Amino acid sequence: MEVKVLFVCLGNICRSPLAEGVFLELIKDAELEKKIKVDSAGTSAYHIGELADYRTRQTAQQHGIQLTHQARQVQKEDFQLFDYILAADKSNYNNLKVFQSENDRASLHLIREWEGKNLEVPDPYYGTLKDFEEGYQILKKALKPFLEHLRAYHGI
Ligand code: 4NP
Repeated sequence: MEVKVLFVCLGNICRSPLAEGVFLELIKDAELEKKIKVDSAGTSAYHIGELADYRTRQTAQQHGIQLTHQARQVQKEDFQLFDYILAADKSNYNNLKVFQSENDRASLHLIREWEGKNLEVPDPYYGTLKDFEEGYQILKKALKPFLEHLRAYHGI
């Protein structure tokens, strides 16, 4: 069985493509590429078709991660295609809530849920490169326990 994960932020050019890249590295390290599939999307239509922000790509590159994702907007259909939809912050989470219906495949969470706190991944768009690096560190810390959850819960 394949577990499918969708990371969502506002623009799909900063936090969620980075989350996708970071999580893919963790999956590769655990040799789970065939078991876990990852994608990302944005709640807004602002940046559809664009590569990740150059600061996102630079930060990822510094950690050996190449980002090639092109931004797309989340769709109601995603709630049938994915098992987990993970929002970067509470605003993203609330905007995703409106897509939800009773017989969805997906469950909706905050990316940082498995850190055991009600924490957000802050929006770095109007910040500096330092904020992007902090975002990377936050994602790395948040996604390790999420991967552990997937392994335990899905027996992979
Ligand atoms: P993201 O960051 O949601 O992490 O991709 C942002 C990207 C673009 C904008 C805001 C946040 N924007 O306002 O265009």
